[in-house]
Amino acid sequence: MKTFASDNYSGVHPEIMEALVKANHHHAGSYGSDDYTARATDKFKGLFGEDIEVFFVYNGTGANVLGLSALTNSYNSILCAESAHINVDESTAPEKFTGCKLVTISSADGKITAQQVEQKIQRIDDQHHPQAKVISISQSSEYGTVYTVEEVKALSAVARKHNLYVHMDGSRIANAAVSLNKPFREFTKDAGVDVLSFGGTKNGLMFGEAILFFKPELARNFKFIRKQGMQLNSKMRFISAQFEALLSHDLWKRNATQTNRLAQLLDKGLRQIPQVKVTQKVEGNGVFVIMPPQIIPLLQNEFPFYSWNDQLNEVRLMCSWDTTEEEINRFIELVRTYLGQG
Ligand SMILES: Cc1ncc(COP(=O)(O)O)c(C=O)c1O
Repeated sequence: MKTFASDNYSGVHPEIMEALVKANHHHAGSYGSDDYTARATDKFKGLFGEDIEVFFVYNGTGANVLGLSALTNSYNSILCAESAHINVDESTAPEKFTGCKLVTISSADGKITAQQVEQKIQRIDDQHHPQAKVISISQSSEYGTVYTVEEVKALSAVARKHNLYVHMDGSRIANAAVSLNKPFREFTKDAGVDVLSFGGTKNGLMFGEAILFFKPELARNFKFIRKQGMQLNSKMRFISAQFEALLSHDLWKRNATQTNRLAQLLDKGLRQIPQVKVTQKVEGNGVFVIMPPQIIPLLQNEFPFYSWNDQLNEVRLMCSWDTTEEEINRFIELVRTYLGQG
C-alpha cells in the first residue's frame, strides 16, 4: 500500500540500495576513515566549496541537536518557529543536549521573518536572561513552504547584527533547491547560514544525514560532540556510500523534482474541488488540506495520511520519491467520488 503519510514511509531508492550492496563487499576503515566517506565529503565540497567541514550522522534529530550544540552554551537560547521540528518533534533532545531554551515564534506558514526574530532578541548581556545565540530555520519548512534567498539573507543579517548564528534544518533541502531552482550554496552558505543539517533519509536514503559547517572554526570540537552525542557510526561507509550515490548523477535532484512535481499536481487537482481547501503554498513535497471530516477516514483506508489539525479537519499529504502520477490521479478521483462528484 502506498501512502501520503510521510516521506519517511517510502523505501530506499534502488540506486542507493545498489551503493549499499557495493559497499558491502570488503573491509573498509571504520569511524569515517574509509574511501566512501572521503569521496562523499568531496561531493559536498564540490557543491559548497572546499572550505567546509562535513560530518555524517544517523538521523535528522541527531544532525539538528548536535549542530546546535556546536554553536551554543547552555545559557543560550535558540530562536525558531513554533512549528519547527526541533520544537515539536524531537522530544526534549535539543533542550537536553544543548541545555538551551527554545524561544519560539508563531508562524502561519512555518517560516519566520527577520522582523519577528529581531523582536525576540532581547536583554543581551543581561545575566538574568537566556542569551539568544542561534536562529534555526527549516528549509523546506514543516508546512512545505520554502524560504527565498532574500529571506535567508535577511535572517542572517539580523544574526550578524546581534552576534548570533544561523542553523538550517535541511531535512528536505533537496525539495527546497528544486523549488527555488538554485544551487544549494546560494540559499545556504552564500546567504549566511553557518551550520546546515543536510537531509538524506527523506530523499531516498535508508538512513543518514550530514552536518555541514560553513565556518571550519565552528567544527573545531565537533568530532567530540558527535561521539558524545552517540552519532558516530563505526561502519560509517554505509552512510557515506549512500550520500556519494545521492550526490552522483543528480539523484538528489531527480528524486526531489519528481516529488515536488507530484505535490504540485495534487495541489492543482485539489484546488479544483470546491469542498476542499489547500491551506498552504505548495513549494515542496507537502500539501495541507482542509476536507469535510466524513471523507477523511474513507480516503485514509486507501491512502493512509495523517491529520494535521483535528479542530480544522486539516490533513497533511506528503509525496515521496516513489509517489506516482497514477496515485495522485487516483487520490483526486477518490476525493471527488466521496464528495459525490465522481
Ligand atoms: C523538518 C524535519 N527536520 C528533521 C527531521 C528528521 O528527524 P529524524 O530524527 O526522525 O530523522 C524531520 C523528520 O520528520 C523533519 O520533518
